[in-house]
Amino acid sequence: GTATASTVGTQLLLFIALGTLGHVGTNKLIPSIKYYMLKRGITGKDLGKKGTSKENNDIPEALGIVPGAIFLICLMFCLVGFATNHPSKLLDLNSALLSICFMLFLGFTDDVLEWPWRYKLFLPSVASLPLLCCYEGSRSVVVPIPLRFLLMIDGELTTFGKLLCYFVVVDTNADGSIINLGVFYLVYMGLLAVFCTNAINIYAGINGLEVGQSYIIGCAVLFHNLVEIQCDSLSRENHVFSAMIMFSFLGVTLALLRHNWFPASVFVGDTYCYFSGMTFAVVGILGHFSKTLLLFFIPQLLNFLYSIPQLFKLVPCPKHRLPKYNAKTGRMEPSTTTTTTPEGTKERVNMTLINACLQMFGPLSEEVLCVVLLTFQIICCILGLYFRYNVAQLIFD
Ligand code: UD1
Ligand code: MG
Repeated sequence: GTATASTVGTQLLLFIALGTLGHVGTNKLIPSIKYYMLKRGITGKDLGKKGTSKENNDIPEALGIVPGAIFLICLMFCLVGFATNHPSKLLDLNSALLSICFMLFLGFTDDVLEWPWRYKLFLPSVASLPLLCCYEGSRSVVVPIPLRFLLMIDGELTTFGKLLCYFVVVDTNADGSIINLGVFYLVYMGLLAVFCTNAINIYAGINGLEVGQSYIIGCAVLFHNLVEIQCDSLSRENHVFSAMIMFSFLGVTLALLRHNWFPASVFVGDTYCYFSGMTFAVVGILGHFSKTLLLFFIPQLLNFLYSIPQLFKLVPCPKHRLPKYNAKTGRMEPSTTTTTTPEGTKERVNMTLINACLQMFGPLSEEVLCVVLLTFQIICCILGLYFRYNVAQLIFD
């Protein structure tokens, strides 16, 4: 049923309280789990500190497991509350828990076992299956107004429209404004999960960046949810659901950020990147705002597009593409890869947004570089929100 404004308000307060508890718990637990990680040798070299990797300190790795586990506990408490208030959302919440939990587990195995690249791509699509199986929402998409002429002119399907109907679209409505993608909608959602998890993981390598970007995207998502909850829309329940997940997520993430900020005392590992990416995919899918979500992922999208030549091995790709520390200046510089061609050796800057930023602004200290990149993230999220509220209705009516 639809909850009244006051009960929604009470629920939001409970979610905030739960997020705060998650924050305190994560903050307390990280220092002790850190010790266990060191003892078991689950560590990584902090490549951005001293010259050679031998000199660099071993930093406990995979600490994303702490916020991940506490976040899952928070959601289990939410499950208890949701069972009475929103019984129709129980299935959603259970499948969300299963997908995120599975991704957290896979991320941890990646940190310990170091999966090859092709597995990293494949794993999130498997982890999103519980979500896709339970997905009961619409499989239709609204066609942007400027593209509708491609599908239908004067109520008649165009040749392209017919072709599309044959291969992809199960049915179109009378004016070509909505198309039902059928099973391909599930494929799109699976790809969304693959994108969100990997895009965060490859936009990484300096202290605070993985967690910082996740925190900012999370704030943008939560802002969007709260605006939509204010409007008494049909989708209010979806946004309450998403806000519930986001409050706990932001609580545990902020605690991790405190320990991972420059100079980092812990590394978050692929554990955290996969967990946070999957959390965003889950709220985007179950909250039915995946397009808005992608607007907040503009830096990650740019970094991914720019990385394609290296990701697909058209250009050699080293294990680490993170910027290089210059011990003389104490600043970070773009990292390069040497390729041997018949004409001789050639040095090429690794194709990441982080290196591009250093090329644009010149060498920066690790902390300043992180602040610059996070500022860009904030700008993109604000632009994304602006686009969502002011431009989107012109295109989608
Ligand atoms: C991805 C990137 C890789 C980048 C790495 C850094 C691609 C295809 N892969 O690989 O280019 O170098 O992330 O996260 O783009 N580290 C630091 N400082 C930090 C964070 C990480 O030095 O602030 C180093 C540590 O040695 C840590 C390691 O990066 O152990 C973690 O790398 P990992 O997550 O295993 O790399 P990938 O995700 O495979
Ligand atoms: Mg990683």
